[in-house]
Amino acid sequence: MPFPVPAPIGIFDSGYGGLTILEDIVRRLPDYDYIYLGDNARAPYGNRSFDVVYEFTLQSVRKLFSMGCPLVILACNTASAKALRNIQQRDLPLLDPSRRVLGVIRPTVELVGTISHTRHVGVLGTLGTISSHSYPLELQKLFPDISVAQRACLLWASIVEAGECRSAGADFFVRQDVSALLADDPLLDTVILACTHYPLLLPKIQAVMPPSVRILSQGPVVADSLADYLKRHPEMDLRLSKNATVQYLTTENPERFSAAASVFLSSPVEARRVTFF
Ligand code: DGL
Repeated sequence: MPFPVPAPIGIFDSGYGGLTILEDIVRRLPDYDYIYLGDNARAPYGNRSFDVVYEFTLQSVRKLFSMGCPLVILACNTASAKALRNIQQRDLPLLDPSRRVLGVIRPTVELVGTISHTRHVGVLGTLGTISSHSYPLELQKLFPDISVAQRACLLWASIVEAGECRSAGADFFVRQDVSALLADDPLLDTVILACTHYPLLLPKIQAVMPPSVRILSQGPVVADSLADYLKRHPEMDLRLSKNATVQYLTTENPERFSAAASVFLSSPVEARRVTFF
């Protein structure tokens, strides 16, 4: 069989959140090519059912595969919680067993177990991620001594998608959810931002979190984990193109995406619109 033409790494999120992961990945692995796909037209995913998140995520993965990506990162906890296992076990063997789809939950859990001293960890995420219990289940497997408090932040991803992450109105919801989490377990020393949209609310989260609590954003964790994966899988690394480019795709209006992403990434971005059908 001829060797496949090297192609970019696909990075997928429901909307803008995955940009917080992309930024750290590009900083860590600047030579590679990337295609970012945000399904902004259907974001947020957080309150959607298992079947719908799976269906939407699979469409995006197929799109990125059709553009050649041999490796796709689900830079979205909701998709990682609700779709990753099915895609890995059911769809990949049929679509192309030589490609890979990786999520963000496992690397985060692996790190958290090594940094919490009180062994009390908090998780802030979407309703989908929290009600899937993915974090408590994964933490229980690897670090059974850790106790987990969770809080579904029903509006945070919508606030970010609406471009309101710096507005005074967002303060109310951030304070409400952080206070509820802290009241649940006053011994927390580490809180995972288990939604890739949430680092865009970081200044507001920091303003209401006690300084003794470490707030864990996933970008650097996922970037380190990807670098490690590529080192351990030279056969995949060979299939990745390395011209230091990033393409941005959105299912919504590309001008709107470009304007918002340029603010989040503090550099100009030019997006294109994609459709699945
Ligand atoms: N950024 C995503 C996550 O990490 C999804 C947020 C949403 O679409 O509700 O969960």
